[in-house]
Amino acid sequence: MTQGSDISRRSLKDWERQGEILGLLDGKIAVVSGIANKRSIAWGIARALLREGASLIVTYQNDRFKENLDKLLTDVDVPVKSLLLDVSNDGLMTEFVNQLEVIAPKGVDILVHSIAYADRNDLEGRFLETSREGFSMALTVSAYSLTELTRAVYPSMKKAGGGSIIAMTYQGSTRVMPNYNVMGVAKAALESSIRYLAFDLGKEHIRVNAISAGPVKTLAAAGVKGISQALHGTVEGAPIPENISTDDLGNAAVFLSSDWSRYITGHILFVDSGTHIMG
Ligand SMILES: NC(=O)c1ccc[n+]([C@@H]2O[C@H](COP(=O)([O-])OP(=O)(O)OC[C@H]3O[C@@H](n4cnc5c(N)ncnc54)[C@H](O)[C@@H]3O)[C@@H](O)[C@H]2O)c1
Repeated sequence: MTQGSDISRRSLKDWERQGEILGLLDGKIAVVSGIANKRSIAWGIARALLREGASLIVTYQNDRFKENLDKLLTDVDVPVKSLLLDVSNDGLMTEFVNQLEVIAPKGVDILVHSIAYADRNDLEGRFLETSREGFSMALTVSAYSLTELTRAVYPSMKKAGGGSIIAMTYQGSTRVMPNYNVMGVAKAALESSIRYLAFDLGKEHIRVNAISAGPVKTLAAAGVKGISQALHGTVEGAPIPENISTDDLGNAAVFLSSDWSRYITGHILFVDSGTHIMG
């Protein structure tokens, strides 16, 4: 067995080459949302879930992302189903659930929510200026969609005998990060939703947790002014002075998806090099 830091820095290909797939998620079926491209956190998570033996169903927001997804999936040697899901389009949720029922009739075990959106204008300057429409859009897509998606998928998880739901958050939910603005409010709503959903679904052995990630250069992050300062800030001031990768988030998601975390629910797990403990 290798040291922890080696594990997190190795890619799926390295693991495969060395025949070290652990199989922590053998037999489990995972639905992963939010893959826009190879830099997406959801792609790091999808790769880690695959590495551990999970079967994958991925969702894409639109045709542009479907193209990226198809390219990424050419490197994966097991079949992966992909389904259209735009959480701002009411009609698509029903269609998504119907298709999921057909693809996974015995139920799904894991749901990854890695979705966020806010208007660019609301991610700079003063939070004070946030419009009603901007607020509503950010909160609907980035926070309410977790409740909606959970409501759509939990009957399938119940069928599977329980499951694990994981969302992605950021410490801008509890602290002021200049320019993060309405997304900070959306993340606060998301984190609170995690706790209420965890309470609602605990009796069904469905767990609901979030990973609070340190900064990662992704498409969504590029929309927030100051991502470079955040990356720099980790190297300058975090207890572990290194930035995280999407592989590190994938490994945390494996833990939260696996039976090793079966009594952990309603929790926010920080994967941020320890930044959140700093004053
Ligand atoms: N990148 C970071 O530094 C960072 C840090 C902490 C948390 N997060 C969170 O991680 C999650 C993933 O973001 P990312 O950084 O990987 O960026 P990303 O741009 O790669 O992913 C964002 C995803 O949201 C999806 N999305 C947006 N609107 C949607 C809609 N209406 N319907 C369905 N999907 C929609 C996009 O298709 C995209 O795949 C987000 O919740 C984000 O807030 C990111």
